[in-house]
Formats: sequence, C-alpha cells, structure tokens
Amino acid sequence: MAAGFDKNCNSTDSLFDLGYGVVEVGSITPEPQSGNPKPRLSRVEESEAVINRMGLNNVGIDVCKDRLRSRFWKHVINQSKTEKQNATDIATSINRSGIESKLPGINGIKELGSYADYVVINASSPNVKNLGAKSNTDTLEQTICAAIEARDSLPDGKRPPVVIKIGPDNSDEQLHDIANVALKYRVGGIITTNTTRQRPGSLVGDEEKIAETGGLSGAPLKDLSLGTTRKIYKLTGGQIPIIGCGGIGNADDVIAYA
Ligand SMILES: Cc1cc2nc3c(=O)[nH]c(=O)nc-3n(C[C@H](O)[C@H](O)[C@H](O)COP(=O)(O)O)c2cc1C
Repeated sequence: MAAGFDKNCNSTDSLFDLGYGVVEVGSITPEPQSGNPKPRLSRVEESEAVINRMGLNNVGIDVCKDRLRSRFWKHVINQSKTEKQNATDIATSINRSGIESKLPGINGIKELGSYADYVVINASSPNVKNLGAKSNTDTLEQTICAAIEARDSLPDGKRPPVVIKIGPDNSDEQLHDIANVALKYRVGGIITTNTTRQRPGSLVGDEEKIAETGGLSGAPLKDLSLGTTRKIYKLTGGQIPIIGCGGIGNADDVIAYA
C-alpha cells in the first residue's frame, strides 16, 4: 500500500491483515499539518483516476511515533507469550512490522526509523509546493547523504535501507542523474513513481475535475510510471531494487511491473 492511505499510522495492522506485504505509512511531517483547504481530492470515476492536492495533511511525528511504537510492542509481547521467549530478544530479531514477512515503510528517519524496515526520501510530490524541486540532483544528493547519516545513527543499531521515491515527470536527463546518485550511494531502492502533473490522453471524464490542480494517480498513471520504471531499471543496470507503484489495478499490471 503506497504512502498517502495510512497517513496517520492508524490502519497499519488492518492493511497487513488484508494481505498487504508492505505498508508505507505517512507521509509524516515533524509538526501536525492540516494540508491544503478542502476540496482537495477529485475522483475521475470513468478513468479510475484520482487527482489530489492533499498537501501532506497528517497528525505529525509524535503521535505517529506513539502509534508505531505501541503496535510494534503489542506484536512483540503477543509473540513472546505464544513462543515463551524473551520479548527483548524477539524485538531485536523481528521485522519492524512485528509480523513475519511484512514490512512497514516510513519517512522521518531520526524519529521513526527505528520502527521501519525501509525509510523513504520523497523526492517528488507534485501536490506539495517545492517538493518536486528535490529531483534537482544536488539537493537529492545532499538529502541522501543526510538520510544515510541519520539512518546510521539510529540508536538501536537497526539499519533500514534508504529508499528514494521519484515522480513520473522527470526528463531522461534527470532520470540519468537520479540513477547515478542512486548507484553512487547504493540506495536500498527506488520507488517508481509518485503521482503525475501530466494529464495523459487516457484520462477521460468530467472536464472540470480533469482541470483540477494536483497529482494524478490511478489507471491513467500506469504507462507513465511503467515507462519511468523501465528507464530506471536500465539506467541502474538492475543493481538497485525497484518498488513499482502507479496505476496497479490487477494481476496483469503487477506482471507488467515485474
Ligand atoms: C490521496 C493521496 C495521497 C497521497 N499521499 C502521499 C504521501 O503523503 N506521500 C507520498 O509519497 N505519496 C503520496 N501519494 C502517492 C501514492 O503513494 C502513489 O505514489 C500514487 O498514488 C501512485 O499510485 P496509485 O496509482 O496506485 O495510487 C498519495 C496519493 C493519493 C491518491
């Protein structure tokens, strides 16, 4: 489940129970934010699409940290009772989801990294002003360095992979630069992609909704995200794991990404 659904870390276990193997919570900001004024999300039903300019509405890092901590320890304590094993031993050996084969992804490395199996740098979010500018390679490089440093300083010795999330609107030159930086720092993965500023021809429906400002997701995003996925795969020579995201609606889509 991509970021933006479990924004406040209150559905994480329900999503794992539904069968999701990876749940990316957030995006979370240091302070609570109300996001952009409503209305800020439109559904274009005919095209199975959404256009949003939520603007990172969330309850902030402190509340999310409490939620992530308590769900993790709930799982650890349950497991320690069933397996009659020391809770601290379980806590150091198990995924941060507290459940085998399930992984939570989180942004906010210093504060929340201890509760993540991977941490994310959002290098593109078209619905937030200026965040898209992070695709600028120098800024991206600095951000990756800072993220790796923060990850390496996590108190419990956990070293969750640092993953970058990019948008589908990068030029070939920008993708080339992103791939080079990713290879240089051996990032743990690249998520392709966030929503798009574009309005592809496959997006049909209510003209007013289509004209809304924001990032487009859902079915009409798929070809753009897949295109970026293919290019990034080639540019990184398959050396960096890719987490495909964008318009995945059925098993054929999953196979196309694979
Ligand atoms: C309402 C909404 C909120 C989102 N919020 C975030 C967010 O906070 N952080 C983020 O990295 N991506 C966010 N996204 C982007 C999604 O994680 C995902 O990259 C994008 O929607 C493409 O996937 P999809 O077509 O399967 O929805 C959001 C998307 C939607 C529709």
